[in-house]
Amino acid sequence: MCRSALSFFALIDYYQYYFLFESITLDTISLIQPDDWHAHLRDGLALQRTVPDLAKQFARAICMPNLVPPVKTVEEALAYRQRILAHVPEGLDFDPRMVLYFTDQTSPQEISKIKDSEFVDAIKLYPAGATTNSANGVSDIRKVYAVIEQLEKHQVPLLLHGEVTHQHVDIFDREKRFLDEVLAPLLKQFPQLRLVLEHITTSEAAHFVLEHDRHVAATITPQHLLFNRNDLLVGGVKPHFYCLPILKRLNHQQTLLEVATSGNPKFFLGTDSAPHAQNAKENACGCAGCYSAPNAIELYAQAFDQVGKIDRLEGFASHFGADFYGLPRNTKQITLVKQPQTIVESLDYLEDQKIIPLHAGQTLSWRKV
Ligand code: NCD
Ligand code: ZN
Repeated sequence: MCRSALSFFALIDYYQYYFLFESITLDTISLIQPDDWHAHLRDGLALQRTVPDLAKQFARAICMPNLVPPVKTVEEALAYRQRILAHVPEGLDFDPRMVLYFTDQTSPQEISKIKDSEFVDAIKLYPAGATTNSANGVSDIRKVYAVIEQLEKHQVPLLLHGEVTHQHVDIFDREKRFLDEVLAPLLKQFPQLRLVLEHITTSEAAHFVLEHDRHVAATITPQHLLFNRNDLLVGGVKPHFYCLPILKRLNHQQTLLEVATSGNPKFFLGTDSAPHAQNAKENACGCAGCYSAPNAIELYAQAFDQVGKIDRLEGFASHFGADFYGLPRNTKQITLVKQPQTIVESLDYLEDQKIIPLHAGQTLSWRKV
């Protein structure tokens, strides 16, 4: 055979190998174990459901403090952490990371206690009345500037539910109004404040984060990457897609997908998984919150893969949040395979109730093994 024919066959061989190799790597991916920087576990019997579901997916999770009554001090947070740890299944390592609930009465001294605590990482500000169990939240942010000064001084992160609550403001505009009316002035006053704008839902919020320095970050949920307000409202109201901040238009979903998959470390994983019993969701006054914990990483994989960016999942899910919080990255790995799996229709909850998980009964293309 002449030399050029030989090199032609060598080339074919190379391409066959290349495509085989590529298909293997694209159908199986390994990531450093991910963390969830925003989750609701509730308390009491609910922990039997929520802790195993979350601990099977994540190494660590920020456990939100909107219990009834809320978790307001480091002491209360450490006691709550013990109640969570009591439900971690045998053989799983799970490190609950705790957060205090900011109220009008939070004392500036509590912030140095957070700074000194091994397990409490931040404080969460819910504008009073913004969402589930937020009645004890902050009534006017200017009233708590003395505490925020301490947050800036000690570099303790402020986690924000970023929506205004005025009755006259349209629900779809509440996040944007928060940026303009609350967050921009806050950062002017405290330029070194470390903050996480939780569960962002709009292009405006994504751009706000991009335009500020590295102290300003955001979490993004799986529902805001996979769905938009048509999924919630077209063809009948779908209460299991109702969460706060509410799903927005398609163009906002697209911007969130862009920034989440961009490799920018300011955007990281926070599911906002929030359990509500089926009858509390399918109700004339349905509760806000989507329960995504059991399939969280696969839901994110689906979203990243849909835009051809599965290779960006690891940074978003496993690196950037830990880096922001100044915690070490995890060391163990997980594997995802491209195999269909159907999300269960319902899960047992409390004594005799059910939870309908996010995207129940639908098939995802990735599975954690
Ligand atoms: C959360 C809940 O149920 O605790 N609900 C929600 O719609 N996201 C609270 C919250 O994070 O807003
Ligand atoms: Zn939340």
